[in-house]
Amino acid sequence: MVIAFALLELTVDSGDQMAIEKFPIIWGVLAMLLLFAIAIEVVSESLKSIMFRGLSPEAQDRYLANEEVRKENQFAGLKRLYGKLKGSKPIEDEGEIVLDHNYDGIKELDNKLPPWWVYGFYVTIVFAVIYLARYHIFDGVTSSEEYEIEMEEARLAVEEYKRTAKDLVDVNTVELLTEEADLAAGKVIFDGKCAVCHKNDGGGGIGPNLTDKYWILGGGIKNVFNTISEGGRDGKGMVSWKSELKPAEMAQVGSYILSLQGTTPAEPKAPEGDIWVDPDAPSPAEEVMETVVDSTAAEAEITMAGN
Ligand code: HEC
Repeated sequence: MVIAFALLELTVDSGDQMAIEKFPIIWGVLAMLLLFAIAIEVVSESLKSIMFRGLSPEAQDRYLANEEVRKENQFAGLKRLYGKLKGSKPIEDEGEIVLDHNYDGIKELDNKLPPWWVYGFYVTIVFAVIYLARYHIFDGVTSSEEYEIEMEEARLAVEEYKRTAKDLVDVNTVELLTEEADLAAGKVIFDGKCAVCHKNDGGGGIGPNLTDKYWILGGGIKNVFNTISEGGRDGKGMVSWKSELKPAEMAQVGSYILSLQGTTPAEPKAPEGDIWVDPDAPSPAEEVMETVVDSTAAEAEITMAGN
């Protein structure tokens, strides 16, 4: 049954599922096999008993005696190996190893250590020597270094994942892209689709100047991404691009636009909107507030300690 199960799992192509899960009919096949096995067993047992009854009484005795011997020798090899590994003296020979003290009839045997244990002990010594040499004498990788290596591998894997999964970005997860390739791709999109209204250098025309600090609809990659994706105010001319550009492309062109910040276009359009301040960056005022809060907390702790 085990072999049949293994063979079925190996030969039936079931993707990353177990064959037995994907094709429940395999249960049926195995059940049939089991029935067959039982049937064969029943038939051979009854044949045996019929033939046994056909024997003469002496032949029956001989047969039984043979059976006995066969059973005894069945696992002789294994039994011998087990005895060797245990290494203990058989009870008949215990007299040879009894020590010569005797406490109220309690005696002590000087049994040898079991070979399996002794060899296991030697193995640990060899292991310890190799371990010591490898990690404390030569430059083996310690656990903390292993940790660092794994973290580094994970970081690379995440980066790789992000590279292949760029289209997963949306307005909440989008981040400013700084890689050359992304900005170049953003420029291609910008020159092809946006420059008619914003000018090639972002100086502005029908659309506003994208190189200054003033934004009508908010600066920063999240707002810019949102503007590109959803469009500007009604009737102003900035349409929603989400049906035409993939999320990754909107992130690229948005990042490209932001890379134009602070450049001087040939004919800059006058600023429109308000100066954009990133709400995530702490303003100097907020930093002062935090210090005040911190020192108040510290004072409270001191008071409590005093009490
Ligand atoms: C048909 C002209 C036109 C095209 C093409 C166009 N825009 Fe605009 N864009 C505008 C106008 C007009 C506004 C101002 C919208 C408003 O006032 O609501 C604007 C606003 C913006 C803003 C917000 C600026 C701010 O100050 O908040 C961004 C960012 C922007 N566009 C990016 C793009 C990108 C990227 C493309 C190409 C995919 C593009 N635009 C294509 C006309 C255009």
